[in-house]
Amino acid sequence: MGKKKIAVLTSGGDAPGMNAAIRAVVRSAIAKGIDVYGVYRGYNGLLNGDVEQLNLRSVSDIIGNGGTMLYTARSEEFKTLAGQKKAAKHCQELGISGVVVIGGDGSFAGARALTNAGVNCIGVPGTIDNDIACSEYTIGFDTAMNTAIQMIDKIRDTAQSHDRCSIVEVMGRRCGDIALQVGIACGATSILVPEVAYDIEKDVIARIVDTQKTGKKHFIIIVAEGVGGVVDLSKYIERRLGIETRATILGHVQRGGSPTVRDRVVASLMGHKAVDLLAENIGNRVVAVKQGKIVDYDISEALDMPRVFNKHLYEIAKTISI
Ligand code: ADP
Ligand code: F6P
Repeated sequence: MGKKKIAVLTSGGDAPGMNAAIRAVVRSAIAKGIDVYGVYRGYNGLLNGDVEQLNLRSVSDIIGNGGTMLYTARSEEFKTLAGQKKAAKHCQELGISGVVVIGGDGSFAGARALTNAGVNCIGVPGTIDNDIACSEYTIGFDTAMNTAIQMIDKIRDTAQSHDRCSIVEVMGRRCGDIALQVGIACGATSILVPEVAYDIEKDVIARIVDTQKTGKKHFIIIVAEGVGGVVDLSKYIERRLGIETRATILGHVQRGGSPTVRDRVVASLMGHKAVDLLAENIGNRVVAVKQGKIVDYDISEALDMPRVFNKHLYEIAKTISI
């Protein structure tokens, strides 16, 4: 029997720290005597044969870089059974028996499909949103929040100078974790997230008015992307309260930049764990953080878990940001 071969790919939205995970996969595999291949542009690379062998030096000097050296993409073809069979066939032709898939929920559904087609896959949670239910943490979350807070601190300077209200939209289409933690970290007067129903009068206007009564003259409102409507909200606040208001959508700035220590370390540990599993011929698992430890779950079990929003933290934020 020849040498064992595995591959690594990044899929879906990129996240700072993905490079650290790739590096860990490559070096952990080589340490075990396993050949490792990089797949370019997510599942597309498996469909097109855009795959090349990586060595220890292929992943030098990337741990501090945002983005992903393997590029990322979304693939409609891979969502079809025919696409999954084609990808599995290409892997088998190359002798690749396992793939580490770094991405989000969608990428994990793909990893389960590819495992069913005969190629063991391990999912590694890489997304700035922190929206993987089975894991307390996803690669990129810390960097994205730190980027957001740096931007919001600058916005605060100008909001303060002008006695204005600033509304800032942070990323998170279905998940308010970035908004919640960033909102706490910047002392937002109000935080709006997709997980909690809100009433503009009670949860925004009344909170601004109450804060105004204590002498405060500038306000930051954090809104998750999934709630949206920041421009309309700013117009409403101006009309309703006569406070000059500006809206900022932070957008993709949150997806880039050099990963924080936390992202580099978690990514390194998760990548290493994924290789441990593939080395034992185990597939169909997702690597996760549970009570600070690196664990793994069956992909279906992981995908079925309900996400729990930290309501307790949300209530604390309301109490102390006044
Ligand atoms: P994320 O991994 O960040 O959630 P997407 O949902 O865009 O990102 O998924 C990334 C890719 O994973 C898709 O473009 C597709 O190729 C693959 N994928 C998503 N859902 C499925 C599915 N149900 N079955 C097979 N592949 C899927
Ligand atoms: O999943 C990460 C994320 O940045 C979300 O917060 C956001 O809704 C989405 O990706 C944006 O994706 P795109 O890469 O298509 O702009």
